[in-house]
Amino acid sequence: MSTAPLVAVPAAAAAVPRHVAIIMDGNGRWAKQRHLPRFAGHKAGVDAVRRVTRAARALGIEALTLYAFSSENWRRPEEEVADLMGLLRIFIRGDIDELVRENVRLRVIGDHSRLAPDLVAMVDAAVARTAANTGPILAIALNYGAQAELAAAARRLAERLAPHEIDEAAIEAELDTRDLPPLDLLIRTSGEHRLSNFLLWQAAYAELLFVDTLWPDFDAEALGAAVAAFGRRQRRYGGL
Ligand code: IPE
Ligand code: IPE
Ligand code: MG
Repeated sequence: MSTAPLVAVPAAAAAVPRHVAIIMDGNGRWAKQRHLPRFAGHKAGVDAVRRVTRAARALGIEALTLYAFSSENWRRPEEEVADLMGLLRIFIRGDIDELVRENVRLRVIGDHSRLAPDLVAMVDAAVARTAANTGPILAIALNYGAQAELAAAARRLAERLAPHEIDEAAIEAELDTRDLPPLDLLIRTSGEHRLSNFLLWQAAYAELLFVDTLWPDFDAEALGAAVAAFGRRQRRYGGL
């Protein structure tokens, strides 16, 4: 395994976000700029995932949630969906040993049971292999959509609770992110300014950061800059 350059923990270490989520966007445009097929962009995107997960660990970020495949991404051409699933297989096969060794707890959010059966088994086995770890969480969003997550939570609560018992805490406890720290920083790359159905509930008081960098170009330095920008934000939660 190569060692990525590590970013120094900023002086105000208290300002490091506990939970960072990233909408990893811009793989296709990165490839297009280079006159390469979109697949090349997705492949370079996986390299960025490797770099950024290492950098997040070095920064002391407790949880990193990466939007890898949305519930709407099934609308893409079949071949591209197959390419993305193939890259997911390669990532799990190639990187799980490092995650186990580095004490990372791998999690999945979204309805990954809709993926191909071999991939479901592979993802479940990888999650299980890191289940006894105690270190940072790497959550991968697979077939994730926030509206579906909330609808599923509502259905489960309606079966179990009376209407007056359904409050914010009850909803939070049903979300896919229930075991993760509160979302502090949500980053989207590639210059798009939208959430695309990602972590809609969790983003209520997250700091939002939109950067123009295309995902395959995002690196340890870019994550360090994002964390530094977070450190300069003043969070008020409606107060003064
Ligand atoms: C993000 O890059 C990767 C996924 C959505 C899986 P895109 O594939 O959306 O890249 P652009 O937005 O077309 O550049
Ligand atoms: C969001 O990116 C989903 C992921 C990064 C996995 P998209 O490229 O799918 O989002 P839209 O279609 O531009 O909103
Ligand atoms: Mg996109």
